[in-house]
Amino acid sequence: MSVIRTIVLGTGSYLPARVMTNDDLSKTIDTTDEWIVERTGIHRRHIAADDELTSHLALAAARAAIADAGIDPQEIDTIILATTTPDNTFPATAVTVQAELGLYHGAAFDIQAVCSGFVYALTIADTFIRTGQSKTALVIGAETFSRLLDWTDRTTCVLFGDGAGAVVVTGMEGAGTNADRGVLTAHLHSDGRYKEKLYVDGGPSSTQSTGHVRMEGREVFRHAVVNIAEAINESLAATGLTADDIDWFVPHQANKRILDGTAKRIGLPPEKVVLTVADQGNTSAASVPLALDTAVKDGRIKRGDLVLLEAMGGGFTWGSVLLRY
Ligand code: ACO
Repeated sequence: MSVIRTIVLGTGSYLPARVMTNDDLSKTIDTTDEWIVERTGIHRRHIAADDELTSHLALAAARAAIADAGIDPQEIDTIILATTTPDNTFPATAVTVQAELGLYHGAAFDIQAVCSGFVYALTIADTFIRTGQSKTALVIGAETFSRLLDWTDRTTCVLFGDGAGAVVVTGMEGAGTNADRGVLTAHLHSDGRYKEKLYVDGGPSSTQSTGHVRMEGREVFRHAVVNIAEAINESLAATGLTADDIDWFVPHQANKRILDGTAKRIGLPPEKVVLTVADQGNTSAASVPLALDTAVKDGRIKRGDLVLLEAMGGGFTWGSVLLRY
């Protein structure tokens, strides 16, 4: 049976030049490189310059993805930007990217699912493409997450970083089998009962301010391993594939311990897991496309490989996308 599949034409990413190490952090808060590395696997993270906005990071990643895809940007009819740190409360940061790319047609909008944002955005793009709403879409995850941090709170500020990643996706006919290129299945979840486990204590409607990230780290950790494994198993069950079939696992880069725990739970060997958390920290919605681009550009992920993306974040939100690159 012939079906429309959403295939990845190109990937791109951008990291701000400034690097902040764990030792840098230990000069201003009561922490050590040893503690951070042992509990999280993070060694350093990138921090946007004062005049760098989320749209700047997003645009750089988008331009790289468009160049990699080798398409005329005018072919893009949809821009979906996943972010928790928009330039302004409105308009959507996606319209700034749209204008900077010289696109004056189609639709551009932001979506908010915190660390799961890119998995949500890619799933929306896949639905748009399969239903004919879009032909070619630019999907971006971009964050200046450092702007939401309370730099005196050692339990959160050591975890996050800034960055952006993007993919260009388009519709292509497939046979409707697991051998097709493109998105094979996608699964999204949220459960608002846990919204106070990880949240920002401000916003336009509640405090008329931006607020700072607050988190119950242990609770997030506990739920993350269970929820992520559930989303992965759903993708496998929907396709009849097994963990052995997966070539590359590209998870949201929250914490190396969460990723090790998840990989073990679903029976994936560590060498199949793409890890960028050591050098980038948790870049929220940007982490999955950043990791994807890293492994594509260094030659690990090749055309035809089966790639499993997953994420979990505030809300809680979580989900997975299984695709053949
Ligand atoms: N440096 C030194 N000590 C610290 C630091 C720090 N940066 N942060 C906390 N501590 C201390 C605590 O104050 C506590 O001290 P106490 O025993 O005297 O009270 C001690 O270390 C242990 O604290 P815990 O919070 O119990 O430490 P835990 O082993 O749970 O590790 C961590 C904390 C790393 C946050 C862990 O819970 C975690 O990774 N949780 C997942 C959170 C996450 O990844 N969030 C990202 C967003 S959600 C997502 O993307 C999935």
